[in-house]
Amino acid sequence: MTYSSRLPGFFQLPPQERAQRVADLVGLSDEERALLAGAHADDLARSDRMIENVIGTYAMPLAVATNMQVNGRDVLVPMAIEEPSVVAGLSYAARMARNGGGFVAMTDEPLMIGQIQVLDVPDLHAARLRILAAHQRLLEHANAQDPVIVSLGGGAREIEVRLFERGPVPMLVVHLIYDARDAMGANTINTAAEALTPLIEELSGGRVGLRILSNLADRRLARATCVVPKQILAQEGCTPEEGVARILEAYAFAAADPYRAATHNKGVMNGIDAVVIATGNDWRAIEAGVHAYAARNGDYRPVTAWERSAEGDLVGTIEIPLAVGTVGGATRVHPMARLALKILGVQSARDLAGIMAAVGLAQNLAALRALAMEGIQRGHMKLHARQVAISVGAEGDQVDAVAARLAAEGVVRPDRAEAILHELREA
Ligand code: MEV
Repeated sequence: MTYSSRLPGFFQLPPQERAQRVADLVGLSDEERALLAGAHADDLARSDRMIENVIGTYAMPLAVATNMQVNGRDVLVPMAIEEPSVVAGLSYAARMARNGGGFVAMTDEPLMIGQIQVLDVPDLHAARLRILAAHQRLLEHANAQDPVIVSLGGGAREIEVRLFERGPVPMLVVHLIYDARDAMGANTINTAAEALTPLIEELSGGRVGLRILSNLADRRLARATCVVPKQILAQEGCTPEEGVARILEAYAFAAADPYRAATHNKGVMNGIDAVVIATGNDWRAIEAGVHAYAARNGDYRPVTAWERSAEGDLVGTIEIPLAVGTVGGATRVHPMARLALKILGVQSARDLAGIMAAVGLAQNLAALRALAMEGIQRGHMKLHARQVAISVGAEGDQVDAVAARLAAEGVVRPDRAEAILHELREA
């Protein structure tokens, strides 16, 4: 079906009319139209205020992982995610770590970096010193933009100047280091960075280009650690020592090879993203920051590390930038995000980041254990089988019946699922 995607005035329509327009254009069935029309009125109205051209809402499963203990406190972890076995994996790994006292998490002050690009500077080195010498004036001017965050103890903290002399366009980049308190901080920092334009131009003698925060939030790191007593790893026919060794070998693979490190870090982010999404935070920002941090020394590395303690137990650590907020953005606008924050019982953005770091470490432990000790497919396949069953049209009790047969046969493919479903319907 061909149609024009030029839709003048589309953005001004109410969401229901937009949905109808799209349905007519692409030829949706009555059932498909009903899916779009099925959005709850409040959700639709809120969504329409959040983004542009809304035609419906999109629900994801929301689950809670159990067994997590962070800094001595038990915490239920809300997770919004579509992938099977992530929530089960986190709960399982959290139980393993619980035997060693749970997770200890710590975080930096919530310092963000606002970048100001300065071009056409005649004397880059001297300009750098002029800007540094005027740092007090710059900080005061930045702080004048948001008295509220300043009254809460946040605001501009530091000015850094970096030089890029080589390359086709020599430039100077000013970093405004800004304490965002409990916000992620993007809007406040971008506003402050923009406000510094005239002063920076005056001081540098150059022309300001981009002004935007950096997602490589390496002043806002979160760290977590845990100990897994070696006895817990006496599984799958391994002795405790062999269990620890298998995890260490799995980690060594990621430490040696970026192809593996990418997947290793993906597993870390399975857990973190799910909490970031559940709490209404910006998961693209978190992803960008974590992967940039993983590559900060020029080669892409795992963001966790696993070692053997003096007692022979398994010790894990993680260190990543986590620019998340408990105020601002969708965290307070979206009722499910508010709910997720309530379930977590966090008092501040730093508390939230600490829990997320622990979740990332635990999720990594779950993946490494499954991969190194039982092979990932065994656990995955049971859950995957349900999705395959649903995808071929199984309903109600048929879902579990088809999934059980697929898992028992060890062949989890849609063609086989269809055949089993057909058999069940004929029976
Ligand atoms: C799958 O979503 C995540 C894993 O691939 C992570 C890993 O390999 O470490 C299992």
